Amino acid sequence: MVKLVTPPETPDSDPFEGTIYRLVRPLAHGGMGQVFLVEHRQLGRQLVAKVLKDELAGDSLLVERFRIEAQSLGKLRHPNVVAIVGFGNTSDKRPFLVTEYLQGQTIAQALASGIMFTVRESIRYARETLSALAAAHELGIIHRDIKPENLFIQQQPDGSTQIKVLDFGVARVIPGVSPGAPQPLAIPTDTGLVFGTPHYMSPEGALGEHVDHRADIYSLGLVLYRMLARRGPFNDDLSGNGIFTAGLTQDPKPPSFFALSRIPPELDDVVLKALQRSPDDRYSSVGEFDAALANVTQFIVEDENDTGEVAIPLTARGHSSDSLLATTSPAARNAVQSHSARANVILFAVIMLATSVLVSIIVMRLGQGTGVP
Ligand SMILES: Nc1ncnc2c1ncn2[C@@H]1O[C@H](COP(=O)(O)OP(=O)(O)OP(=O)(O)O)[C@@H](O)[C@H]1O
Ligand SMILES: [Mg+2]
Repeated sequence: MVKLVTPPETPDSDPFEGTIYRLVRPLAHGGMGQVFLVEHRQLGRQLVAKVLKDELAGDSLLVERFRIEAQSLGKLRHPNVVAIVGFGNTSDKRPFLVTEYLQGQTIAQALASGIMFTVRESIRYARETLSALAAAHELGIIHRDIKPENLFIQQQPDGSTQIKVLDFGVARVIPGVSPGAPQPLAIPTDTGLVFGTPHYMSPEGALGEHVDHRADIYSLGLVLYRMLARRGPFNDDLSGNGIFTAGLTQDPKPPSFFALSRIPPELDDVVLKALQRSPDDRYSSVGEFDAALANVTQFIVEDENDTGEVAIPLTARGHSSDSLLATTSPAARNAVQSHSARANVILFAVIMLATSVLVSIIVMRLGQGTGVP
C-alpha cells in the first residue's frame, strides 16, 4: 500500500542556523527524521539533510541509530547507495546527516503516479538494489527497511535511471563480520522488537525474532512483486496485525496472477522463492537471488503491441507452438494466430490458382479432341 504523504511544513526556526548549511525547504518527513533540501553556504551546492525529529532527540537509542545510519552510509561507497557527504549537530543538539541531492522519485512515488514498470525495468531495479545490499551484507550491515519509499530512482543527466538505496535508519550491524563495519548498537535492545514497515516486513521480523540478511531478500521480493503486479501478494487494505497474520499464514499467489503484462513462469518462481516464509527456504544470499534474476532475463522479449513485455520461451527449449500460445501474452498470441491465418489464405489461393489452370488445360484438350473449330 502506498501511503498518502502530506507536504512537510517549514519549521518555525531554522534547524541549520549556525551550521555550514542553509535551509532551502522541507522535502519529506518520515518516522525518525525530517528531510530538508539545504545549500552549502560556501560551495552553493544543494544537498539533502536528514535531521532526527525534535521529539526523538532525547532518546539515546535513536541517537545511536542515527550514528549507525551515518556510519553505514559512510562505509558504503556504492553506485546504488545514496552518497553521504557530511554529519553534524543542529544548534539544538539534534544529529543530522547530509547526502547528495537526488533528482527523480522513489519507487513508491512512481507507483502512486500510475507508472507501469516493465518486467525488464522491474528486474533491473531489483538487481541494482541487490548489488547495493551485497555491499552492505559484506560489511555485516542488514538494511531491515527495504520498501518502495526507500528505493530512489535517480534520473541521470543522460536520461538513464538507476536505483539509490536510502534510509539505513533501522539497519542492524552484525558484530564481527567485517572490521570496516560501523560499531554495532551500544544499547542492544533488538530482540523482541519489531523494526521496519509492516507491508514489507519478513515473517521473522514481524515476530520480533532474530533477523539476518535473508530478511532483506524477503522485503525486496515484496518490492519486486509490487513492481510487477502493482499490488502486494496479500490484501493491501490490511494493516498492522492483519498484514502480519496474512504474511505468516497465507501462501502468496505468483505475481503473474495479478499482473497485466506477461510474467515468465521462471520469474514467478524466483519471486516466490524470495518470499518463502522460512528464511532457510529463500535464496541464501543476495548473490544467489541476483543470479536467478539474471537467468530469467533470457525469457523476456519486447513486444511492441503489448503494454508490458512478453515472455516467449525460446523454441530451442523445445516448446511446441501450442505451448507458445499457452504462455504468451494476448498480443503475442494474436500475432502468432494472425501469422498462421495469413499462411492459410496464401495456401488456399495457390491451390485455387493451380486448380483453375488445370481445369483450363483439360477444357482446351477436350475442345481440340472433338475437332470443334
Ligand atoms: N538524497 C535524497 N534526495 C532526494 N530525496 C530524498 C533524499 N533522501 C531522502 N529523500 C526523500 O525523503 C524521504 C524520506 O527519507 P528517509 O527514508 O531517509 O527518511 P526517514 O525519516 O527515515 O523515513 P521513514 O522513517 O518514513 O522511512 C524519501 O522517501 C525521499 O522521498
Ligand atoms: Mg524512509
